[in-house]
Amino acid sequence: MDMTISRIDPAFRNDVLRCFEQENLAIPARWLYDRQGSELFEQITDLPEYYPTRTETALLSQYSDQAAEMTGTGRAIVEFGSGSSTKTPHLLRAVQPAAYVPIDISGEFLAHSSAQLQTQFPDLPIYPLEADFMRKLTLPDEVAEMPKLGFFPGSTIGNMIARTSVDLLRFMRETLGTGSQLLIGFDRIKDADVLVAAYDDSAGVTAEFSLNLLHRINREMDGDIAVDQFRHVAIWNDLYARIEIYLEALSDARFSIDGNQFEMAKGQKIHIENSHKYGLRDARLMLRAGGWSPVREWSDDRDYFSLILAEAHPFKNAP
Ligand code: AVI
Repeated sequence: MDMTISRIDPAFRNDVLRCFEQENLAIPARWLYDRQGSELFEQITDLPEYYPTRTETALLSQYSDQAAEMTGTGRAIVEFGSGSSTKTPHLLRAVQPAAYVPIDISGEFLAHSSAQLQTQFPDLPIYPLEADFMRKLTLPDEVAEMPKLGFFPGSTIGNMIARTSVDLLRFMRETLGTGSQLLIGFDRIKDADVLVAAYDDSAGVTAEFSLNLLHRINREMDGDIAVDQFRHVAIWNDLYARIEIYLEALSDARFSIDGNQFEMAKGQKIHIENSHKYGLRDARLMLRAGGWSPVREWSDDRDYFSLILAEAHPFKNAP
C-alpha cells in the first residue's frame, strides 16, 4: 500500500482543475514557484537578456545612501516576498535598520536567506515571517513600536493586475502603519523587443520556468501531460502594457489530472503570467491609489527600471 501522504496545496489543486473548466484557460502565476520554479527563477535573474535584477541592484548600490537621507536610520525594514534577499544588503548597510523582517511564503527559503544575512549583519535583529503578504499581516511584537520602511523590489507588483496591486499596496499600508515609508521597484515600459527577449531568452531558461508548471501538475496531481507537446510563448500586449506568458499546445492534447480527463486543441493556450510595465506617472498613480505618496524616484540612464520611495501620509479630507 502506498503510504505517501499527499502534500498538495488544496488551493493549487482547485486553481488547476478550475482552469480547464473555463473558456479562457488560466492558472495563477503564484504556482510557478515550487522549489524547482524558484531555482529556475534565480537562474533567470542572471540571464543576459533579463535586465531587471541587475538594473535594480545597481540602482540600490548607487542610491541607497540617498534613500537613507530620506528614511533616516533606525527603522524596521519589512521586505515583502524576500526570496533570496540578494538586493537587501545595500539597503541594510545604508539605512542601518533597528530590525529586519523578511516575509516569504516559503519557510525553507526564508530560513536559508535569513541565516545568510545574519552572518553578514551579525548585530542586526532579524525576525523572519512565513506568510502570504497578499493579505494584511501582523508583524512581530518586537518591531511593533518601530517606524517602518517597507521594501518591495523586483517589480513583483507587475505580476498582478491593477486592482490586485492596489489592494496589496493598501494591505501594506495597513500592515506598516501611518508614517511608514515604502521603497518599491517598477519595471518601465521600453522597446518591445527588449521586453520580449527578457521573457523568452535564447538559453531557454524562461521557457523551462514556464513549462515547470506542467511538470509540477504531473508531479503533484498525478498528471500525464506530455510537456514536450507544449511551448512557452511571451508576447507584448501594448494596450495593457504588459508581457503575457502562455503555454501553447503544439498538437491536440489529451491528458488526465487527478483522475479527471481534459483535452486541448492544437494552438490553444493556457495564460500563466503577466508582467506589467510602467510609465513613471502610471507608477505614481498606482501608489497614490494604494494610499502612498511618492516622495523620491531613482532611475537608470536608460530608464529601464525605477525605484520609488513613498510615504503613508495621514489621510486628509480631499475636495
Ligand atoms: C518575479 N517577477 C517580477 C518576474 C517578472 O519579471 O515578472 C517573474 C518572471 N517571469 C518570467 N521571467 C521573470
